[in-house]
Amino acid sequence: MSAGFLHRYFLNNANKRLHKWMHYFDIYERHLERFRNNSPVMLEIGVFGGGSLQMWKEYLGPGCRIVGLDINPKCKQHEDEDIEIFIGSQDDPKVLDEILQKYPEIDIILDDGSHMMQHMIATFKLLYHKMPSNGCYIVEDTHTCYWPQYEGGLKADGSFMEFVKDKLDEINAFHSRGAMPVSDFTRTTDSISCYDSVVVFERRAQGERQAPITAPM
Ligand SMILES: C[S@@+](CC[C@H](N)C(=O)[O-])C[C@H]1O[C@@H](n2cnc3c(N)ncnc32)[C@H](O)[C@@H]1O
Repeated sequence: MSAGFLHRYFLNNANKRLHKWMHYFDIYERHLERFRNNSPVMLEIGVFGGGSLQMWKEYLGPGCRIVGLDINPKCKQHEDEDIEIFIGSQDDPKVLDEILQKYPEIDIILDDGSHMMQHMIATFKLLYHKMPSNGCYIVEDTHTCYWPQYEGGLKADGSFMEFVKDKLDEINAFHSRGAMPVSDFTRTTDSISCYDSVVVFERRAQGERQAPITAPM
């Protein structure tokens, strides 16, 4: 594990409570480096002690805007300069619309909320296609996909990991010879990276597929 900014910040954190698995920091830095000091808007679902919102603000740099969403009204106390917190459930279209009204271009979404299968899928379906064309959507603690108390289980119907596996097929829809329609997701998604307990979707407009041969025979 590298001793990057986030790892060091976490170890030295003496501010608000912050709860992360250690191996997540390298993953975050790999996917979020490009947003640093570019004034991104980030939504983190799951505020808890407010420490991660402070961490993102430090990491993403001047001009960033950090938005939190939590079902617990007490989390509102963690608002600060450049940090706004909404209260509601992550699967409630009303609160998500309220956030989108105020922040129509959310560059980064991190789902660290309930980790319940239906919530993870509902939130993804409500928000992913509304992100800018170069956005990054991260879902963490996906180990709950294997745990029945979170509606998960190995290869269980309705688990977020099974949803992700279908999305892997959808990314390849151009090559499915009509078996799978080319969707908005196919056209707007560059990659899905699956790590231990974390899934990262990188958005980027996809052009027509071509496979020319260069150099004469
Ligand atoms: C794992 S903690 C978040 C940790 C925080 N992101 C951090 O890194 O320190 C999960 C949070 O999700 C919130 N939560 C639970 N169910 C939720 C729901 N349906 N919608 C939004 N937030 C929810 C909990 O209140 C809790 O604060």
